[in-house]
Amino acid sequence: MAIEKTYSMLKPDAVRNRHVGEIIARIERSGLTIERMELGMVTPEQAAANYAEHEGKPFYNGLIEYITSGPVVKMVVSGEGAVKKMRTLMGATNPAEAAPGTIRGDFGLIMDENVIHGSDSPESAEREIGVFFGA
Ligand code: PPS
Repeated sequence: MAIEKTYSMLKPDAVRNRHVGEIIARIERSGLTIERMELGMVTPEQAAANYAEHEGKPFYNGLIEYITSGPVVKMVVSGEGAVKKMRTLMGATNPAEAAPGTIRGDFGLIMDENVIHGSDSPESAEREIGVFFGA
């Protein structure tokens, strides 16, 4: 499998609920490498760029409000099949449906605050890394 990069972000609820250390430990234990990491706010411009495809959907305004509501941990993660590996670690989008042992299954409660984001393809990863870390 090819070495890939993916963009991952520990969302405001993960930081607020002090789950950052445990989530990062899981990522490292999986064999993936954290290449870049930064704690900080998501600007309204970054939120709009990252979630542009969802503009107009019923959950869009709440999603933008939530993702800009407090500090997040922005990361570039690399390794063999990193995109898929991160999404497996994360579990289903809705924490109520995420399997025990996955990050969302263990640390998430509701759809609106689902702990972690991970790019859905290498192409999305490249775009999202540009949004959050610059070209
Ligand atoms: S969809 O339904 O196919 O557009 O969903 P998806 O491509 O998985 O990404 C949706 C992102 O919006 C966040 N979000 C929600 N999705 C669906 N329904 C509700 N109510 C909702 N609230 C928030 C979801 O977590 C995805 O964000 P990321 O950051 O990619 O996880």
